[in-house]
Amino acid sequence: MQMIPHDYPFKATISKRNHGRIHSTTGIALNEPLHICSESPEDRRVYIQDKPRSAYAQLPVIYFVTPTYPRREQIPELKRLAYTLLHVPRLYWLVANDQERCDTFLDTLLSGFGIPYAHMASPMPSEFRKSKPAPRGVANRRAALQWLHQQNITNGVLYFGDDDNTYDLRLFSEIRQTQRVSMFPVGLIAEYAVSVPVVRDGKVVAFLDSWVAGRRWPVDMAGFAVSLAYMSQYPNVNMPYKPGYEEDLFLRSIGLRIDQIEPKGANCTEILVWHTQTKNKKSAVVRLNSEFLDGRSNLGALFRSLKLMGVASASDTEGPVAMISKNGKTKSHSYILS
Ligand code: UGA
Ligand code: MN
Repeated sequence: MQMIPHDYPFKATISKRNHGRIHSTTGIALNEPLHICSESPEDRRVYIQDKPRSAYAQLPVIYFVTPTYPRREQIPELKRLAYTLLHVPRLYWLVANDQERCDTFLDTLLSGFGIPYAHMASPMPSEFRKSKPAPRGVANRRAALQWLHQQNITNGVLYFGDDDNTYDLRLFSEIRQTQRVSMFPVGLIAEYAVSVPVVRDGKVVAFLDSWVAGRRWPVDMAGFAVSLAYMSQYPNVNMPYKPGYEEDLFLRSIGLRIDQIEPKGANCTEILVWHTQTKNKKSAVVRLNSEFLDGRSNLGALFRSLKLMGVASASDTEGPVAMISKNGKTKSHSYILS
């Protein structure tokens, strides 16, 4: 067997601020600026599951695209997801954050896992911010599609994995051999708590999903995977800013026929991905005077870290006064901290 010198078939040569357009000649609208914050194609994991990394070298790479956005749950969600992805060999994590600037806390977090990754800043265009519903995660996924195009990646498998879903490790072995487009059930979707292709004699013949709305492909973003060899034959690939129709229009843009779909998860009888949802709340503000947030207690370092993660911040003037108690009685800040 021939030795492959690099884990991944390309070099990270993308520029930090690339305002290039893709498919400008065909008038396709995947044209947002692509801001790469940090990236590393290097896989620093020694063991994955029960084998050394080298045991997996021949497997196709899964490009796992995660849109994410700042809110107090962002860092815990990404950590939980990362600790799943750490068990998945030959995975390239494309994390696209819905904000203007690059978050250096995220750079550090992502590079620390040792999973090959690219972190990009992909803010939702301001004209969509106020629309209800807003096209959530679309700018992010479009940025990842541009990244794949600019890197000229024409093999491996693409999967859109939101930051708040729950993934069974068997999902990754199922989708890795996708030839064109594979599909499988997603648990906890809408009214029926499931969205699933209907399979007869090993073929997808229809869909069960509580929101049809004219969609030819009434599936969730987490319910399909795409071969990049297949996708690269469709230069008009697109994911438009049309809330509710992103999956349908994306799959239409790659010329899919129903008889070509590969059902996974034991002919769509097993749930390998769950559309779990976490409450999202704005970062908390707690009134706690900065004069007490020095080295005299743990609270200074703790609140600095919470602020970096977008979880909570201490303020001299805003928010409810932090209650600090002892023996069941609240005490003044100065009594405990000065
Ligand atoms: C459902 C689908 O499962 C998503 O695939 C689809 O993108 C979404 O609806 C939609 O079209 O609105 P849902 O759980 O309702 O997902 O939405 P979120 O999990 O809140 O958002 C989907 C993804 O976009 C997440 O990864 C989230 O981090 C990201 N997102 C959300 C942003 O990047 N920006 C936002 O303002 C909100
Ligand atoms: Mn979600």
